[in-house]
Amino acid sequence: LELTQEEQFQARIDADVRIEPKDWMPDAYRKTLIRQISQHAHSELVGMLPEGNWITRAPSLKRKSILLAKVQDEAGHGLYLYSAAETLGASRDQMLADLHSGKAKYSSIFNYPTLSWADMGCVGWLVDGAAILNQVPLCRTSYGPYARAMVRVCKEESFHQRQGFEIMQTLCEGSPEQKAMAQEGLNRWWWPTLMMFGPKDSESPNTAQSMNWRIKRFTNDELRQKFVDMMVPQAEFLGLTVPDPNLKWNEAKQGYDFGDVDWEEFWNVVKGNGLCNQERLQARVQAHEEGAWVREAALAHAEKRKQREEA
Ligand code: ACO
Repeated sequence: LELTQEEQFQARIDADVRIEPKDWMPDAYRKTLIRQISQHAHSELVGMLPEGNWITRAPSLKRKSILLAKVQDEAGHGLYLYSAAETLGASRDQMLADLHSGKAKYSSIFNYPTLSWADMGCVGWLVDGAAILNQVPLCRTSYGPYARAMVRVCKEESFHQRQGFEIMQTLCEGSPEQKAMAQEGLNRWWWPTLMMFGPKDSESPNTAQSMNWRIKRFTNDELRQKFVDMMVPQAEFLGLTVPDPNLKWNEAKQGYDFGDVDWEEFWNVVKGNGLCNQERLQARVQAHEEGAWVREAALAHAEKRKQREEA
């Protein structure tokens, strides 16, 4: 019995053999990976902006240097991810052009404003917590360069999450005003964070195929459930209330039941109509334009070196 190329490919996937850049792969596999990895890369870049907003206003020198380091880590994550997408034949210029024109997607979560210092706690604790849950399984994703990039990203991401939780803990152990600030942050970030995992499985066009190809290791709903189960005890530990009246421990499933996400809000943000979509894209475009001289200088330098080597 002769296996087709596609069947051989699926057999390798099923045996947990990593796919590498020069291996044969179905076009749709390549396309899906370019889509997911580039969206992920864009999310890291745009994800620098909500926190970048607080670097100049961090409450102490220590907090400021931690935040600065974290935002720089995110730039690094974006660069690994663009490199991983390039191994599939995607062009970085094209990916960036698609981000800047508004054609490409990036995570909905980064279109929400960061209004108080507690938001730095919430972004680290909740948003990076969600990111880790989603990304630790991606260390075992079937495409080698993506999986390897995720290992370091996840190490840095867990430091980010710890620092966010520590900000929340400090606020919750502080004055009543500080505790109220922490609660107000949780009230605004909880639901948008649940949206990060993507639409319900029944509404997710890509999940079934991506699970089959072992690009995704868990479905959107599975990860959302894990997130709620992990976070509720942490909120209780902090003395904060999760803003969901339907949240309830379910003994039979050994997990929490929780209320329905506002999917209309989610799609509205994904379509570009969230609170900060325009501002975020504008900031990215401006940063890119202001960096033009750096790219030109780097090219001129590379050209000079090449000429010197040839001489
Ligand atoms: N924000 C924006 N768009 C989203 C979101 C979201 N939170 N969730 C899903 N979508 C988009 C998908 O990109 C897809 O769009 P497309 O088909 O036009 O490309 C559409 O909604 C339907 O969703 P799914 O079929 O569920 O898509 P997918 O299988 O790709 O699952 C998920 C989405 C879970 C985000 C997946 O792509 C993934 O795991 N990505 C890697 C992790 C990542 O990108 N994290 C970014 C935030 S974390 C951080 O950067 C700190």
